[in-house]
Formats: sequence, structure tokens, C-alpha cells
Amino acid sequence: MGIKQEINRRKTFAIVSHPDAGKTTLTEKFLLFGGAIQVAGAVKSNKIKKTATSDFMEIEKQRGISVATSVMGFEYRDFQVNILDTPGHQDFAEDTFRTLTAADSAIVVIDAAKGVEPQTRKLVKVLRMRDTPIIVFVNKLDRPGKDPFELMDEMEENLDIKVRPLSWPVGMGPDFKGVYDIYGKQLKLFRAHEKDEKENTLVFKDLDNPDLHQAFGDQMDMLKSDLELIEGVYPPFEHRTYQDASITPVFFGSALNNFGVREVLNCFLDIAPGPAPGKAEERTVNPEEEAFTGFVFKIHANLDPNHRDRIAFVRVNSGMFKRNTFYHHVRLNKQLRFSSPTAFMAARKSVVEEAWPGDIVGLHDTGNFKIGDTLTEGEKLHFAGMPSFSPELFKYIENADPMKYKQLHKGIDQLMDEGVAQLFTGKASGRKIIGTVGQLQFEVIQYRLLHEYGAKCRWENINLYKTCWITSDNKEMLKDFLNRKNNQMAVDKQGRDVFLAESPFALQMARDKYPDIVFHFTSEF
Ligand code: G4P
Repeated sequence: MGIKQEINRRKTFAIVSHPDAGKTTLTEKFLLFGGAIQVAGAVKSNKIKKTATSDFMEIEKQRGISVATSVMGFEYRDFQVNILDTPGHQDFAEDTFRTLTAADSAIVVIDAAKGVEPQTRKLVKVLRMRDTPIIVFVNKLDRPGKDPFELMDEMEENLDIKVRPLSWPVGMGPDFKGVYDIYGKQLKLFRAHEKDEKENTLVFKDLDNPDLHQAFGDQMDMLKSDLELIEGVYPPFEHRTYQDASITPVFFGSALNNFGVREVLNCFLDIAPGPAPGKAEERTVNPEEEAFTGFVFKIHANLDPNHRDRIAFVRVNSGMFKRNTFYHHVRLNKQLRFSSPTAFMAARKSVVEEAWPGDIVGLHDTGNFKIGDTLTEGEKLHFAGMPSFSPELFKYIENADPMKYKQLHKGIDQLMDEGVAQLFTGKASGRKIIGTVGQLQFEVIQYRLLHEYGAKCRWENINLYKTCWITSDNKEMLKDFLNRKNNQMAVDKQGRDVFLAESPFALQMARDKYPDIVFHFTSEF
């Protein structure tokens, strides 16, 4: 098979949801269809248990185990599908956001009873920033839930998307009868107690079938009027508007009961974009280019102190990646060769000989990689799109063992390269501030510094609301701002100026006083 065919058969997507909406269950059903796993529960057993919130070591251990499942590949209908899992745990780390940059599209799972939840909102915001095409799967239709039209409104309001239903439920909870597959133009009836997907589905092509009316009278009338309303209210489905992310198709079903799952997978394979061109600072890289290029979007450390190795997850952007071939590490200006690159197939890892655009390979790393690093065949390229987001929680990090100053700094440096959290250094004070998106990360950092680097740290509270990257065309105003606010300025790891806003009010004051300065919540501007 040539590069074009390999590219055309690849679909790399991120699966996103608030914890408990059913992401793991849906993923598992996809993998079952693809034959990548044989029994339900194979993925679940690797999942971070929800009850373990306070026991961070347990969580990290499980994260270690679940490394193989953070990327899952399977083949279905001649497609090579790569699923990028985003941690569902509420203390997810900075790298969750970055994983989204390695996906060409996303499937967002929403619980029909709970609607749009906070973590979904956060992650979809990142997807929207880069116009990543999204498909929504509304799950748990077998349970009582919100009215489907109400859910549509909620999504549009909270996720800043325009929706278009491609399937529609007939009833819900105890009255759930099935879904009308608008995309495939057929009614699928649900029979609750059948385990096998084939057994639990009855298909009707014709909504006017008298048997249907006899069995479900009112509900059929309701479905017909709903469908009329849908055609009247929502824009027609078009491949183009989905791919440019202006319209989001929505499906309904029940992952647990394997109902409506095949429909969403089939439609996804028909319409989802393949590997997109990669935007490097220097130029746009077409996946079909012969020379291999790729970038590191995630680094996973091994928590076992006896194995201090790490895995760098590389997304192939163009050409073919080959095992045992020298590639150019652009930042280090160094040639590196990988003897055991791994691909991830469901819960298995295996050494691969080659990988194609859209694929994710795991490279064994002894400390060469940082998030955002680029590999090429020699060309100096820097893939853009590794944004940092203003963290939500901040603490000063202080050395608690004066003899281990060096170890502490090396440890902080490496953990930040992995994307565990962000580091800001106060311009006037020189004090180091760690910013995270979850409380748990502070504990993880402290534990890892001690166990991996032999360094002790302690945390001190800081009153901080947001860190804002600042830019301005008005050089005078910027200079004045930097002078006056020196005590509230810091630099990030790349040396960029960051304003430390103590409160929303302080930020507003700064905005009012310095109207020509733009305050950014992400480093991508
Ligand atoms: P997550 O990865 O998004 O966190 O969700 P997960 O798939 O683990 O699902 C969360 C819970 O919701 C699980 O129940 C799962 O069985 C259930 N679930 C998933 N899909 C459906 C559905 O279509 N209908 C219903 N009724 N439930 C669904 P649990 O009791 O928390 O876990 P478990 O004991 O089943 O493992």
C-alpha cells in the first residue's frame, strides 16, 4: 500500500467526556467491533477508579498501568482507527489539553441526564480553539434523562457549537424504544435484555409501517413530528460544515447496551477527516510528503524508581516513520535512532516497524524529549500548536533540603518538560510558582521529586487568580506596564512575560488602565 492509501485509511480522534458519562464504555464497544478486544471489561479494568481521589499514588500507579490504553488502535472497515483517550479524572493534568492537539477530530460523550458538565466544557473549548470537528454521542438513553431538544439547546449555549441531530431517540428511560437513525434513514428498535447487538436491534426502513403504529402509536406520532421539527429548525447535514467545525452532528444511544454505537462509529468513519496538514512555524507540512516528520505531544514517566525511563508519544505528521532509522531531533540538533518504537493496540503494546501519518508511536526516552519537540529527516521544523493554558491553581515551591538544591531544580525542570504542570519565575522575587489544573498534581510533584530526584520541597500559598501572557503593538505602553508591574510579573519556561493577576478585579483594572495591552489566557496567540 502506498502513502496515499495509508493516509486515507487513518482516522485519529480524541474521545472526551466528563467523568462517568460513559467514555470508557463507548471506547470498549468500538474496540469490540474492531476485534481489538474480545470481552467487555478489558479496558475498564485499566481505568482510574473514581473512589481513589485522595490516594494519589494509587491513581498514579493506575495511570502507569493505563499508559497502554491512553492510545488505542484498532482496525474496522479497512480503517486504522487511533483513539486518544483523555483522562476522565477530575484532577487531570496539563497534558490532557495537549493530547487534543494530536487528534484530527473528536467524539464527545454526554450523559443524557446530566447534560453538559464542566470538564466537557473545558475540553470542548480547546477543541473549538483549533476548529477540530466534533461528533457528540448522547449516552444513557436507557435511563430517564433531559428532553432531547433541551439537550440540543444546552449544548449550543454551553459549548459554543451549532448542532445537527443525526439520530433521534424514541422515548427515554423506561419508555426508551429505540433511535431513528437520520443519517442511515432507518428506525432501530431497542430490546433491553438482549446482550448481543444483533439480537437487541429490530430495524424498520419505513416509519409508516402499520406494525409500528399498532405497537407504539403515540410515540411514533411524536417521532414524526420531532423529525419534522428537526428538519425545520436545524441546518441540513453537510460534510463540509462538519469538517470545518461549523456544525456538530449529534447521535443518541446507550453505550452500555451497545445501542446506537455502531451507527455513530460508521458515520464517524464516513465523515471524519483523515490526517490533517501539520502547521510548523516554518511552513505547513502535508501528510503526503515523503520525508518523515512528527512531534511529541505527551510524555509518560515510569513511576517505578527502578526504571526511570519515559515514553514519549509522537504523532506522525508526514511520511513514513521507520524503526532503527536515524531521525533529527530539531531542538537538540541531534540524530536519534529508536530500536523499539511501540504502537498501542487496545491493551497491548507491540514493537512496530513503521508508522504512517495520523499514527502515534511510543518512543523509549532517557530524557531527550520535551513536549512539543519535533523529529524530522533533517529539516529544521518546529510544529506549532502546543499551547499552554493559564493554570487554575498556584503555589510557591520552596526547597526544603538545602543540600539538595540541584536535585530539586533538575527535578522541577524535567517534570515541567513532561507537562505535569507549569513553572513561572517571579521577575522581582525570583521565586518559583507552580501552576496546575488539579490539586492532585501538587501531591504528585512532591512525591516524584522525593522519590525520583531525592529532593524535598514544600508548598507555600500564593494569592493568584490567573497568569496572563501579554502582548501589545504599543511599545511605550508595554514598557510602562512592565516597569510599573514588575512585582507582579513573571516569566514562563520559555522566557515569555506573564502577568500574575491576583483577582478578576485586578485583571480588569489592568485592562482598563492599559487598553492597548492584550491579556491572553493561553500561550497561543
Ligand atoms: P467514563 O469513562 O466516562 O468515566 O464512564 P464509564 O464508561 O466508566 O461509565 C460510567 C458508568 O456509567 C458505569 O457504571 C457504566 O457502566 C455506566 N454506563 C455507561 N454507559 C451507560 C448506558 O448507556 N446506560 C447506563 N444505564 N449506564 C451506562 P458504574 O456503575 O459506575 O461502573 P461499573 O460498575 O458498571 O463498572
